[in-house]
Amino acid sequence: MSTRIQIFDTTLRDGEQSPGASLHIEEKIEIARQLERLGVDVIEAGFPISSPGDFEAVRRVSATVQNATVCGLTRAVQKDIDVAWDALKGAKRPRIHTGLGVSENHLKHKLRKTADEALEMGASAVRYARSLGCPDVEYFTEDAGRAEPAYLYRVIEAVIAAGATVINVPDTTGYTYPEEYGALIRGIMENVPNIDKAIVSAHCHNDLGMATANSLAAVRNGARQVECTINGIGERAGNTSLEEVVMALHTRRDYFGVETGVVTTEIYKTSRPVSNLTGILVQPNKAIVGANAFAHSSGIHQDGVLKERSTYEIIDPRDVGINESKIILSPRSGRHGVRHRLQELGHAYTDEEQFEKVYQRFLGVADKKKMVYDEDLEALATDESRQVPQTYELVQLQVTCGDQAMPTATVKLRHENRAILMDADTGNGPVDAVYRAINRIVRVPNELTEISLQSVTEGTDAQAGVTIRIRSGDDIYSGHAAHTDIIVAATQAYLNALNKLLAKSPAAQDRSLRAEAVV
Ligand code: KIV
Ligand code: ZN
Repeated sequence: MSTRIQIFDTTLRDGEQSPGASLHIEEKIEIARQLERLGVDVIEAGFPISSPGDFEAVRRVSATVQNATVCGLTRAVQKDIDVAWDALKGAKRPRIHTGLGVSENHLKHKLRKTADEALEMGASAVRYARSLGCPDVEYFTEDAGRAEPAYLYRVIEAVIAAGATVINVPDTTGYTYPEEYGALIRGIMENVPNIDKAIVSAHCHNDLGMATANSLAAVRNGARQVECTINGIGERAGNTSLEEVVMALHTRRDYFGVETGVVTTEIYKTSRPVSNLTGILVQPNKAIVGANAFAHSSGIHQDGVLKERSTYEIIDPRDVGINESKIILSPRSGRHGVRHRLQELGHAYTDEEQFEKVYQRFLGVADKKKMVYDEDLEALATDESRQVPQTYELVQLQVTCGDQAMPTATVKLRHENRAILMDADTGNGPVDAVYRAINRIVRVPNELTEISLQSVTEGTDAQAGVTIRIRSGDDIYSGHAAHTDIIVAATQAYLNALNKLLAKSPAAQDRSLRAEAVV
């Protein structure tokens, strides 16, 4: 059996199903490019029939990605498969990912089909995808974690006979425990006669916190592909976290005896933009990429690590790309130096205008901070790569606050590159005052549900990264921005979320236009 584990990244499909994580097309392309640098084998870029945005994402990612396989999800119906195949036609290595439920629960309540009808529907979907010329068809047996194994074996045998090249065994509801999920994979390896003609794939959800353990149990029992997302984002409690599986396989090579093609030093550089762009924060104690993952606070541990790192550290943080940061640039660094370092960090600019925007922001930060770290540069580049249409842009902000003052904010915004709008308000704090003043201009009802602050680097002069989430009706939008001034960062983050809302909802846009008052 091969010792190479394929890493299938579904950040852009299952990951994007996290509430409020919706990404703009350019943001998806940026993440796809970084996933390639990370060295994943498969990028699942979307569910093409589900929306024009998903179709376009799969089409654009297919045209961008050079080495990885690009995958599009479908239901087991011809219309979905036609649309996915169309979206994938520019891909060097296209894969259609089709399938349907196999548990009694899904057959009865969701599909309302008999087991034999569902089996035939799945096999004909695979035959149809292959008949279009798709060389690589993955079949998902949804809710396999709660399915009757004997039926699951029959389905897998039939879809492999129909041409499936990869069999996905999802624990859709995150129900199983490692011993059970491992045994399920082992049972498939031992009981499906033609299983040697396909790769078995683990796809786990984290409802009981078992996703990583279950995926690793699957590898121990014969799975040769693991489906995962960056930072473990995804529906409900999320999917298997890519960085955890990859680093577990890497750190415990002695135990697993397998390898992946992931460039581990790119892990942290992938985690940060995914968090910033989706607005889903990484919990501080998250394994591998959390802020505290390599922090030692107790005296005994610090003493041990200073004497010999391996006393309390099983992973060298540099192996995941953490702590490589050097003081690299200062206000005197020219365009050439900044461009070069950005390129090394994975932000190569062909668009001069775009580079100039980042450079001007760099000068602003360098002026205030004197020393600009890689993390600062990353934050600026990610901020500027946000391609959400800038319906409203900040022109000027003035805030008064203090323990004896009534917090008051005056904001000046540019609307669609032309009208300048200004308003002011007070609030129970400076951020509240700013948001109220903005709301007087952009009259789109929304509720702020979350606001959080992280520092990009250390020290009182560090840039602040602000992430917010707003709710409008049933939809959640996130916004993120970084700046050396916390209030400016919070203002930009709010505008970022509002611009996403306006881009998605033309009705809301109209409302804000009617409210326009030019100053
Ligand atoms: O969790 C799941 O079952 C899935 C399938 C659609 C692949 O995401
Ligand atoms: Zn899933």
